[in-house]
Amino acid sequence: MANLKTNFMGIQIESPIVVAASSISSYTDRIEMAEKTGAGALVIRSLFEEQIMMEAQRLEEELAVGSESFPEALSYFPEIKHGEADEHLMWVEKARNTVKMPLIASLNAVTPGAWTKYARQLEGTGVDGLELNVYAVAADPKRTSAEIEKELYEIVEAVLSEVKIPVSVKLSSFYTSPLNVVHELAKRGVKAVVLFNRFLQPDIDPLKETLKSEMVLSSSEEMKVPLRHIALLYGRIDCDLAITSGVHSGLDAAKAFLAGATVVQTASALLKNGIPYLSTMLRELEGWMEEKGYENLEAFRGKLSQRKVEDPFAFERAQYLKLLMSQR
Ligand SMILES: Cc1cc2nc3c(=O)[nH]c(=O)nc-3n(C[C@H](O)[C@H](O)[C@H](O)COP(=O)(O)O)c2cc1C
Repeated sequence: MANLKTNFMGIQIESPIVVAASSISSYTDRIEMAEKTGAGALVIRSLFEEQIMMEAQRLEEELAVGSESFPEALSYFPEIKHGEADEHLMWVEKARNTVKMPLIASLNAVTPGAWTKYARQLEGTGVDGLELNVYAVAADPKRTSAEIEKELYEIVEAVLSEVKIPVSVKLSSFYTSPLNVVHELAKRGVKAVVLFNRFLQPDIDPLKETLKSEMVLSSSEEMKVPLRHIALLYGRIDCDLAITSGVHSGLDAAKAFLAGATVVQTASALLKNGIPYLSTMLRELEGWMEEKGYENLEAFRGKLSQRKVEDPFAFERAQYLKLLMSQR
């Protein structure tokens, strides 16, 4: 049987399929099922600072309504304070106590102090690693790409100086040079990058003339952009490479490892097909490895990365003249 063990962010894991941050981690039975069906690790849904801020604001408004009608009510009751991240932290601890497989916490903050505060609190739950979910749309036309990148590096440096557990960064593909951003992050001590964050794109309903947004699960086709970047990065960067977006089968995982990925992260495939589908993906990967005669992942990792393919320009070419001409 093929050996699927690997090392990710310095953590020894039993299989290279990691459950991506998602609603799967909102239920202990799903987390247990992920472990039982062979997940190497699981990323817990993000702690979103914005959500905490919104909840705190709501609580304040609700308390203010009471105090406006009965100002003396305030002195009757002990001061009620919003529990900040307590609920999320308790959930992460509960998940930690539920399974043995490595767990990675995820954090998305907006203010500089919050990144470090919550990173420290998440580390305190006993998780094995921390994924920084940098999920921001560059929405200000006056902000330069250099400013945006500088802010990212400052956040990462601050978090790295605050925690001892390995840290990864889940990046967006919307940088002028995503490869350079990865290089800069690896230089600073990030143990892995997760490529790429999948943005929800708001849509417009022309009949109602309103904005609408919906959660649409991914398809395998979406794997191509991260796949190309992993293939370009493999062997050139001193950190692990995780692929997220569009990994829907064992063969998709095989493609990711051929490009040079250390692990694949998957969410949509499991939400669509159920958690036990993870073992189907693993069986398909194992079957493919046995057919090809690969005993372990190292035997073929990066085999089709840019460094190793016969035509290294294939990953650089943005338009294939031959293909474009054939369509005319
Ligand atoms: C329901 C749902 C919830 C998600 N929640 C988070 C989250 O809390 N933090 C995060 O970084 N990504 C989150 N994601 C994104 C996934 O981690 C993943 O990167 C994305 O879905 C692409 O992978 P996939 O094609 O395997 O679904 C979520 C995705 C889904 C579908």
